[in-house]
Amino acid sequence: MANVAVIGAQWGDEGKGKVVDWLASRADIVVRFQGGHNAGHTLVVGDQTYKLSLLPSGVVRGKLGIIGNGVVLDPQALLSEIDKVTAQGLKVGPDNLRIAENVPLILPLHPALDRARETARGQDKIGTTGRGIGPAYEDKVGRRSIRLCDLAEPETLSAKLDELLLHHNSLLRGLGAPEFPKKELLDGLLALAPKLLPYADTVWERLDDARQAGKRVLFEGAQAVMLDVDHGTYPYVTSSNTVAGSAAAGAGVGPDAIGFVLGIAKAYATRVGSGPFPSELHDETGRLLGERGHEFGTVTGRPRRCGWFDACMVRQAVKVGGVKGLVLTKLDVLDGLPELKICTGYRIHGEVVKRLPAAFRAQAAAEPIFETMQGWSGSTRGARSYAELPAEAVKYVRRIEELVEAPIVLLSTSPERDDTIMMRDPFAG
Ligand code: IMP
Repeated sequence: MANVAVIGAQWGDEGKGKVVDWLASRADIVVRFQGGHNAGHTLVVGDQTYKLSLLPSGVVRGKLGIIGNGVVLDPQALLSEIDKVTAQGLKVGPDNLRIAENVPLILPLHPALDRARETARGQDKIGTTGRGIGPAYEDKVGRRSIRLCDLAEPETLSAKLDELLLHHNSLLRGLGAPEFPKKELLDGLLALAPKLLPYADTVWERLDDARQAGKRVLFEGAQAVMLDVDHGTYPYVTSSNTVAGSAAAGAGVGPDAIGFVLGIAKAYATRVGSGPFPSELHDETGRLLGERGHEFGTVTGRPRRCGWFDACMVRQAVKVGGVKGLVLTKLDVLDGLPELKICTGYRIHGEVVKRLPAAFRAQAAAEPIFETMQGWSGSTRGARSYAELPAEAVKYVRRIEELVEAPIVLLSTSPERDDTIMMRDPFAG
């Protein structure tokens, strides 16, 4: 049996939460390997809805959850999320949640800097979640992060804070934002230490033991390939690598441990925040998709921009993300539309191209080339087999498979966990 990595194949919000939950029930361990509490995974189990940002989705299914070193961890956000799900009846503690001791922490100065930067960018703002994700990753590669393990060494912590503040307070002064006093940060971290340190672990070793014991691991990606810091619509991206290759470095395993890579894509496209979106709809159909699909950000509540399925972009995500099979979600949102369009390429300054170029101006100039397909009048909602789908819906799915050059292995037809059509078991490799 293979391990499985799940990644988003568009701009996030593809419905990963449901798929990860479904797969988590069959895994032994669920690992988050990048991102932070900018992610929002909604899981509907019976009459309960869980909204997770940092906790690996497996905690809902009683599995061991691991937060890998590739994540940036906001301690306060983690503790609040644990309190929230505990109030919903879940048990989360050091016996079922382990956190890499080398995970970098998001401190209160990171969201402050994130927001000050966005304000300074004005009209050109990225539209970040304001959670401090970017500044925390900058500190990590700038080698001045405070990491979870530093909480166990108060002298190291104090010296590292001096170094960190030298950098940050200069920046905050430049942006006209208030400086951060060291004492407040140090006292805050020392107070958090006894609550956090029991979760600290040598994750790479735990995962190696799991591998030797033949356990199944699910790597839970956040955001999506088009928000990848290298491969996405830069600079309108998040600050981590969201492709499957990132699971190895972000968890502390070799690339061969990743196993089957499952990409998640919505049957149409959405994006939250700024940046290029060639197949975006600014009309009544776009509004309808947003309304039917409940397209509001889980983390920030912002309305998501909606558009037609962009097969050219998803094909690119399949290639750079290492996707071996796709899950198509929210097909039911398209029920009843008389015709559907699929973007198959772009016209850029008169030239036809079959990939989204890297340069910002070229991306912004990309006009979609659409192929039109007939819609269906019946319902796909809640379908659990191909036979229950209208013929036009099957054609739509098959055409997508062809264009993105990856098989669709799962179809999700409602937020309910069992409303899923499985063509191939990802754990079978
Ligand atoms: P950041 O990750 O907060 O820095 O935000 C950078 C960009 O990524 C913004 O456009 C956000 O809207 C987007 N983003 C971050 N996390 C998510 C997510 O989980 N779903 C969708 N978009 C996201």
